[in-house]
Amino acid sequence: MSGKDEPVSARRSRAWLGDGGKNGFIARHHLRQMGMAGRQFDGRPVIGIANTWSELTPCNAHLRSLAEAVRRGIQQAGGMALEFPVLSLGEPFMRPSTMLYRNMMAMELEELIRANPMDAVVVLTGCDKTTPAGLMGIASVDLPAIMLTGGPMLNGRFRGKAVGSGTDIWRMSEGLRAGEVSQSEFTEFESCLNRSAGHCMTMGTASTMASIAEVLGMQLPGAAALPAVDSRRVALAEDTGARAVELADEGLRPSQIMTREAFENALVANAAIGGSTNAVLHLLAIAGRCGVPLTLDDVDAIGREIPLLVDLMPSGKFLMEEFAYAGGVPGLVQRLGDRLHGDAITVTGSSIREAGRNARIDDDEVIRAWDNPVQPAGSGTAVVRGNLAPNGAVLKISAAEPRLLRHEGPALVFDSIEDYQAVCEDDLLDVTEDTVLVVRNCGPRGYPGMPEVGNLPLPRKLLKQGIRDMLRISDARMSGTAYGACILHVAPESAVGGPLALVRTGDVIALDVDERSLEMRVSDEVLAQRRAEWVAPAPPSDRGWTRLYAEHVQQADTGADFDFLLGSSGSLPGRAAF
Ligand code: FES
Ligand code: MG
Repeated sequence: MSGKDEPVSARRSRAWLGDGGKNGFIARHHLRQMGMAGRQFDGRPVIGIANTWSELTPCNAHLRSLAEAVRRGIQQAGGMALEFPVLSLGEPFMRPSTMLYRNMMAMELEELIRANPMDAVVVLTGCDKTTPAGLMGIASVDLPAIMLTGGPMLNGRFRGKAVGSGTDIWRMSEGLRAGEVSQSEFTEFESCLNRSAGHCMTMGTASTMASIAEVLGMQLPGAAALPAVDSRRVALAEDTGARAVELADEGLRPSQIMTREAFENALVANAAIGGSTNAVLHLLAIAGRCGVPLTLDDVDAIGREIPLLVDLMPSGKFLMEEFAYAGGVPGLVQRLGDRLHGDAITVTGSSIREAGRNARIDDDEVIRAWDNPVQPAGSGTAVVRGNLAPNGAVLKISAAEPRLLRHEGPALVFDSIEDYQAVCEDDLLDVTEDTVLVVRNCGPRGYPGMPEVGNLPLPRKLLKQGIRDMLRISDARMSGTAYGACILHVAPESAVGGPLALVRTGDVIALDVDERSLEMRVSDEVLAQRRAEWVAPAPPSDRGWTRLYAEHVQQADTGADFDFLLGSSGSLPGRAAF
């Protein structure tokens, strides 16, 4: 039985707590062990609080206190709150890449929800991968659920100027390498960037996915942009808890919210905010869990229509604080108007149109009008294809120097990121601003885990000449806070024999973003010859998670989820075997 269509109104927590015999006794007496009074066993809804709090994920370190506000909201609304930890994925520390573990967190969350007594769940996330993993997990169990992202940090502030997560690190570190920034300046900058709790406050992957979670309808209006430390976020956490109790009674499920229309809305919003290229990968994966058809062609087609309206780094100049004060996602929803499917239902129970109607836009410089965009329609994530990337690759147009959007140049090819790093400081490196840097074996299976190395640092030789951008191609990802003419997510990746594996130094590579084409000027006969000589790399591991990952991960063009995790298994509890 799939369980997908079972009535939620028959409160599933009663399968544990409502039993008068031994099984119910076992469940209840262990709740009493935590000091819970018997009155809580009166049939009230049980609401899980899935918490990705961890000191290994500093961006989520405040979620423990935010969970207390969620708990208050649940209790005020008459529910029982049970908080539980979920694998946390922290960008700053995890190696080789948090992306290696996104599907693990999604699996863990799905299984924990299904295996335990709860009628609805609040999912607390923040740092990049925790939000998409959370959405994937709740989609696959399809119990009433609501997300709450932890909110962005306050603006960084360095020597009188606002500075942004990631973006200004790349800028300052390139300055350091070019000799324009001193070591002491760089060290001082380190303590000025992250001034509060919260996730990165540029429109990197965390802010993008938070905004997308709100536009998809999975978190309350305003939840994406309010600073982590804003007291209104604490109040919003209470509201989120209270709403979860109502959701348990109403039975409104993720599958009713995350529809095709909602995903199209998310793609519209992603283009309007200048969202991270990573969002493409995550949206494809979440849609796969929801059984909603969504492809790279949808990403490209929708992106072409929508201008960049939100002026945030890395594509623009402001930060999430300004976005929040300007109106946040509800303001953006109002501005997007009928470009969105207004009837799409959100976790509030009412439509996304309603969220926009109740919004205010208080700063047109941050949330621009349609006739005054930061960049024109089609400046976001484009999808290119050709004999180098038959299944597609992505490029963030607004992040690249325009001269590189139509470019031909000789390839300089590296089989690993380490091979490139070993020579990129070499002043004798045979490279010019026309060279196309290619790094392969950085895909989902090849690295493994598709790390954020696609924004290769420029060769120092070129930095010294004042060059700040060049065409780079890889099967890797790049941080949502990064910039540059970087073609990413090449599919199929080289480790599975994609044509990226066949390109050689000196081959001419031609990119034409208007035409959406990416070609290597090498004949089919020569490519066939090279393919015959190609030897697949050894699997990254013969045991454990990495082996499971390498055996089941799909390619970037469909979201790099596991083949066996697509879809949903519903929320029916398993058998009681006590
Ligand atoms: Fe956690 Fe950027 S490092 S959101
Ligand atoms: Mg990031």
